Formats: sequence, structure tokens, C-alpha cells
Amino acid sequence: MGDPDVREAWAARLAAWLPAAPADVLDLGCGTGSLSLLAALSGHRVTAVDRSLPMVELARAKLAGTGARTVAGDASRPPVAARRFDAVLVRHVLWTLPDPAAALRRWCALLRPGGRLVLVEGFRDGIGIPAAELTELLAPLTERVHTERLSGDARLWGGPVSDERYATVAVPTPARRHTEVVDVHLFVRRGDEVLLARRANTGYGDGLFNSPSGHVEEGEDVREAMVREAAEEVGLALTPEDLRIALVMQHRAPSGATRVGWFFEVEHGAGGEPVNTEPHKCSELAWFPLDALPDDMVAYCRAGAKAYAAGERFVLHLHEPGDPVAYVPDGPARAVALAVAGER
Ligand SMILES: C[S@@+](CC[C@H](N)C(=O)[O-])C[C@H]1O[C@@H](n2cnc3c(N)ncnc32)[C@H](O)[C@@H]1O
Repeated sequence: MGDPDVREAWAARLAAWLPAAPADVLDLGCGTGSLSLLAALSGHRVTAVDRSLPMVELARAKLAGTGARTVAGDASRPPVAARRFDAVLVRHVLWTLPDPAAALRRWCALLRPGGRLVLVEGFRDGIGIPAAELTELLAPLTERVHTERLSGDARLWGGPVSDERYATVAVPTPARRHTEVVDVHLFVRRGDEVLLARRANTGYGDGLFNSPSGHVEEGEDVREAMVREAAEEVGLALTPEDLRIALVMQHRAPSGATRVGWFFEVEHGAGGEPVNTEPHKCSELAWFPLDALPDDMVAYCRAGAKAYAAGERFVLHLHEPGDPVAYVPDGPARAVALAVAGER
């Protein structure tokens, strides 16, 4: 980039693509350090990486006195340990990497929240990476992608060009933290039997037996939620101390949504005699031996009851798309009991 006009053209573009100075900029596959130098001269704190030692030496000489750091290493796995950056700048390198998608994922992970990738690439005669392909590669990481066509700006290239040249600025969407509903289930034990309630008019599992259960509400712990649900659904006046933990199960509905169910056990008689206090949502209460559970049951609850009867403590019950909510006697087994520390 010896030509001052070319340098000026790139400096102007870079100023638009990079965040306001001073920012931490990582230039991967920096070559002789031309872009690093422009970024450093604009006030950015630059780290320049190249896998070629001669290139690193050239970049080091070019960047001397700017405060920029030069490091030898692979752009695919930048040798920056736990450092984070406001921008990862990569020009004419991505297309040469063996797994560009993996490199993009790693680069995103190096960015601070709100940080950006600045990627300058091109495509000609089957060599390089077309802008549309890069946008597709970025799609799983973000929709915030802006591509500028550069072929028409002859100043950047020292003369007119006709092949595809562009810059893509992408701001990765922060990974959404996974959240799950927590629900609570009650196994009221009468000897070998357990109490089940047949659901009605609820829009979920209607006509099927289920244990008295419900969602944990804002501000409740799981025991408080169980005490409340037991009172609401079967009229039991339990205290948290009446409850014993039966098992914890992560369940995935056929829709793909997951939830965590805490299943509690309580002796028949604790908190009074169970009665159907919600006849508009429950058509009957009935007792069933744990080893002879009804088939017309919510599969999730049945898997919990079976696991409980088997003495399991932690279970995954992960439906696949297309599975019914109802238990299917000959259906695929979806429950997986997890090994418990200390038990061999
Ligand atoms: C075409 S030059 C571009 C240099 C610089 N980005 C620029 O635009 O002025 C490609 C540079 O990427 C470096 N390079 C290629 N693959 C690399 C990799 N996997 N890790 C680090 N550097 C790489 C090469 O050594 C070379 O210096």
C-alpha cells in the first residue's frame, strides 16, 4: 500500500467499519501489517497475527512505535488466550482457511458484547468467497450483516477492477441464555398406590391421567410451588416439610420446548384427604398401583412415575418431534436415567 491515495481510501473505509477509537482491534492474517498500521494510526490498540514469521517480522517493523502487538499464529485459532476485542479485522484470508465457518464462530467468541467482525474478501474465477456465501456462513451467528461493494471504488485498488470485491461488517447476536419452565409434580403414596388426576378442558393432555402438578411461579421455590399446587388441585394442606424429593427430570415436549420437573412424594393422609377441587379441569381422581399405571397417561408423568418406582433420582425424558403427549405402550423409550455420584 505504497500509494498515498490507496492508503487514504482504505483509511476512510476502515474508519467507517471499525468502532470509534480507541478500540481493541485484532488483525488476523495481517501480512505486512498495512491495515494494522492504518488502524493503529487512527488510535486503535492493534494486535496483528500472521502465521508466516517473515510476515510477522515485516509487520513488526512497519508497526514499530505505534504500540501495536505482533504475534505469530494461526488465524483459525488466534493465539490471544482470554483477551477480547472490539473488532476482528480480516482481509483476504478467510477464504483460504480450511473451515471458514468454524473460524467465524471462534472469531465471534473473541468479541466483547457489541463487537464486530470486519471481513474484506472477494471472488474471481472460482477463487475467493462470494459475498452471498459469506452472508450465509454468518447467518447462524447474526442477522446484523452489512456488506459494502468495493469493486466500484478504483481508489482502493489503484485502478478499476471488474471482479467481486466487498467488505462485510457483522455484529454477532449475543448467545441467548437458555431458560426453562420449572414444574412440580406430587406423588401421593397410599401403600403401593399413587394418586393420579384425569385432566379435562385444559388444552394439554386432556383425557389423560397425570399427577397433581403445575408450574413454579415467580418468586416461589419448588417446595412452595408444590404446596400451593397440592392445595389448589387436590385440597391438601401440606407444609414444605411434608414433601420428600422423588426425582428431578428434564423433559422435552414434542414441540422442542424443555422444562425441568421436580417430583415430590408425600404420604397419604398428610394435609388431609385428597379431593377434586378443580372439577372444571379434572374429571376424576383415582389410585393406581405404581407397578400397574394406566396407559392413558401423559407420557412425561408416566416416565416420571416409572423412574420413581425404579428408584431413579435424575432422569432425562426427551421427546422427539412427532411424539405424542400421551403415553404410547409400544412407543419408543424416551427416558434415560442418569448415574448418580457416589452410586456405582
Ligand atoms: C493476501 S495476504 C493478506 C494480508 C493482509 N490481511 C492484508 O490485507 O494486507 C494473506 C496473509 O494471510 C496469512 N495467512 C494465511 N493463512 C493464515 C492462517 N491460517 N493464519 C494466519 N495467517 C494466515 C498469510 O501469511 C498472508 O500474510
